[in-house]
Amino acid sequence: MPETPFVDFKGVVAGYGGGDVLKGVDFSVAQGGVTCIVGPNGSGKSTLLKTVSGLVKPRLGEIWFKGQNLVGKSPREILKMGIVQVPQNHSLFREMTVEQNVELGAFLERDRKVIAARLERIRSMFPIVAERAKDKAGALSGGQQRLVEFARCLMLEPDLVVLDEPSMGLDPKTLRVMFATIKMMNDAGRTVLLVEQNARQALKLSHHGVVLENGRVRLSGTGSEVLNNPEIGALYLGGSLEEASHAASEKGQA
Ligand SMILES: Nc1ncnc2c1ncn2[C@@H]1O[C@H](COP(=O)(O)OP(=O)(O)O)[C@@H](O)[C@H]1O
Ligand SMILES: [Mg+2]
Repeated sequence: MPETPFVDFKGVVAGYGGGDVLKGVDFSVAQGGVTCIVGPNGSGKSTLLKTVSGLVKPRLGEIWFKGQNLVGKSPREILKMGIVQVPQNHSLFREMTVEQNVELGAFLERDRKVIAARLERIRSMFPIVAERAKDKAGALSGGQQRLVEFARCLMLEPDLVVLDEPSMGLDPKTLRVMFATIKMMNDAGRTVLLVEQNARQALKLSHHGVVLENGRVRLSGTGSEVLNNPEIGALYLGGSLEEASHAASEKGQA
C-alpha cells in the first residue's frame, strides 16, 4: 500500500531484562487497514504489541504515531493519543453488568452526554450490548465476552485498535462472528493491528501481513502475499514441513 505509515516501527529492540526478545523490528501499519502479525509461539508477538501500548519500553528504536515517538510514553499517555489494546486474557469485570463494563471503556471522557451518545452507537454496532445490558459480564460465554471487550474499547473512539490473539479459546462458530466483528470495526474507520494464531482466517481479512520469527520480521507484504508464500504457508499456516523444505529447495534452484 502506497500510504504514508500510520504507525512506524524503526529498529525496535526490547525484552524483559534477560536478553532481547525483539531484535530490531521494522515495519509499518497503514492507516485504515487491518495489519496482522503471525509467527510461532515465543517469537515476540505479544511483546511487540506491549511496546505499542507502553507496557514494555524498547531499549533501542522508535515507534512513530501521529508525528510522535511512543517510546518513553506511559500507557495512559498512549491511550490518550488514541491507541487502545484488548489484552489476550479476558478482562471484563465479571460481577458488573455488560453495560457498566462498556461504559467503563470511556473512562477518559467526563461528559455524560458524550458517553451516552457513544453508548448508543455501540449498542447499534454490537447487539449483544443492548440485549444483555443488565446481565453480569461473568454470565456470558467466552466469545460473547470477547465481543463486549471490543465494544468497550471502542468507547474511547480509538484511532488504533490493538488485539492480541482475540480468537483464543473460541469455538469455530464464535470465531467467525469474532472475525466478522473485527472487519466491522475496521469498516467503521478503526485501524486494526492484531496478532493471531488462526493465521489463515486472520490474513484473509487483513490488508497487510507480517511474519515475526525469533524477534525479527521474516516477511511482510499484503495479506494474500503472506498467505500464498509457500514457505510461510507450510511453516505457519498448517502446511507440512516437507512442503517447506520443498519450497526452500526450489528457491535455491531458482
Ligand atoms: N513478562 C515476561 N518476563 C520475562 N520474559 C517474558 C515475559 N513475557 C514474555 N517473555 C518471553 O519473551 C519471549 C517472547 O514472548 P511473547 O512476546 O509472549 O511471544 P509470542 O506472543 O509470540 O508467543 C518468550 O521467550 C517469553 O518467554
Ligand atoms: Mg502472545
